[in-house]
Amino acid sequence: MKPIIIANWKCNPTSQKEAMRLFNSLKTGLKNNRSISEKAEVVICPPFVYLSSFKFKGVSFKLGAQDCFWEEKGAHTGEISPLMLKDLGCSYVIVGHSERRAMGESDEMVCLKIKEVLDTNLFPVFCIGENEEQRKKGKTFSFLEKQIKQGLKDIPRTKIEKIVFAYEPIWAIGTGNPCSEDEAFTVSLFVRKLISKIAGNKIAKKIRIIYGGSVNSQNAKDYFSQGGISGFLVGGASLKSKEFLKIINLST
Ligand code: PGA
Repeated sequence: MKPIIIANWKCNPTSQKEAMRLFNSLKTGLKNNRSISEKAEVVICPPFVYLSSFKFKGVSFKLGAQDCFWEEKGAHTGEISPLMLKDLGCSYVIVGHSERRAMGESDEMVCLKIKEVLDTNLFPVFCIGENEEQRKKGKTFSFLEKQIKQGLKDIPRTKIEKIVFAYEPIWAIGTGNPCSEDEAFTVSLFVRKLISKIAGNKIAKKIRIIYGGSVNSQNAKDYFSQGGISGFLVGGASLKSKEFLKIINLST
């Protein structure tokens, strides 16, 4: 399976004009260098309001959203459902990002969202990751285990293979201080082993585990060397098209 490189634009850029400029420059970069686009599955997750602006004809990007609600429709002011995202052409939805969890999103809510995303036939990108304090106290693995078990609590075992697990240690996000390749690899082994216990070995072998947190063109290559990590969730570096194209190009 090809590596998957996901751009998480977060709350950027601030105008449709700039969003189009960024999208078009990525598009041109990929069109001019087809070998880059063959190397990886590339997913762009812009803010909701730009999702319908992008035209994908002639490029092999996929579209993703940064969050969703857990109901299909109804009286839920301000929410956006996976069904609406599917209608706009999304294939992936990021769920449980630490920046959303920091605003009160619980494991139970994350589980409901994953379930709805899967029921809509989209791929969830399930974010997990410990904070600095948990890491210092040696609680990384127990915390990840809790997040994974609770996030998957109501998910049918057979659907777990469609989930992309994104290991994003909070202390590495936006800090310029990425997790080492060895640590990311060790976490990938841990996650796969846990999924094997939950859903069986066959499914555990199929899941994709990616890394996110200060990924850039200087460090991207390292994470592929041991084979456990099969892509990235890229924040800051995905807002510069040249840098993001370089990261895709380094994927093997
Ligand atoms: P970063 O963000 O690449 O800017 O560290 C990653 C993320 O939060 O998804």
